[in-house]
Amino acid sequence: MRLETERLILRPWRDADKKPYAAIIGDPDVRRFFPAVGTYADADAGIERARQRLDSFGFSFLAVERKQDGAFMGMLGMAPFRDELRAAIPTNPAVEIGWQLGKQFWGQGYAPEGARAFLDYAWMPLGLPEVVAITYEGNWPSRRVMEKIGMTHDPRGNFEHPDVPSGHKVRPHVLYRITNPALGI
Ligand SMILES: CC(C)(COP(=O)(O)OP(=O)(O)OC[C@H]1O[C@@H](n2cnc3c(N)ncnc32)[C@H](O)[C@@H]1OP(=O)(O)O)[C@@H](O)C(=O)NCCC(=O)NCCS
Repeated sequence: MRLETERLILRPWRDADKKPYAAIIGDPDVRRFFPAVGTYADADAGIERARQRLDSFGFSFLAVERKQDGAFMGMLGMAPFRDELRAAIPTNPAVEIGWQLGKQFWGQGYAPEGARAFLDYAWMPLGLPEVVAITYEGNWPSRRVMEKIGMTHDPRGNFEHPDVPSGHKVRPHVLYRITNPALGI
């Protein structure tokens, strides 16, 4: 799977992405709405999991590259929820979309641009009925991306993230959703 937008290339992961991706998830600013920064081992495991999901489902979280200069920018993509996480969300959604970019790339509309291309792919050729996004309730930059790509907050989907320790500030999560326009709902 490979998607292109005006300014971005969304492509499968390369081993050479592991170090720069580890630097992004190891940045305390990037992870200010997460319980902890990510390590190199987390980056490695995340990339390997994304590769497996691409093999299994035909779509996944992909590497984001800027067309203009080939800069590695981070991660953006879609994947089915893990069973434990899905079970923790009241509306029992199937597929999520998500993003994480290095901070030098923020504020230029890159995440919505890449996410729109992924949603187009979700509707056609994948034919998914719905895509959702989840984030810590206070992660307003991410919530803005969800709004910009036409997603709507569904308060019935609010939940406590099972991977975040009980009582931690970033445990309460919100859910946004968007339906395949071809379904006419
Ligand atoms: C969420 C994220 C992907 C947004 O990407 P982006 O390409 O900057 O998206 P946009 O340019 O559309 O900006 C979205 C919002 O981010 C905020 N923002 C923009 N520049 C910012 C900056 N330099 N610092 C902090 N927030 C900023 C604004 O609220 C903006 O909304 P606005 O356009 O209505 O003002 C990016 O902030 C990021 O990678 N954050 C860290 C990882 C993360 O939290 N991922 C989501 C996990 S659920």
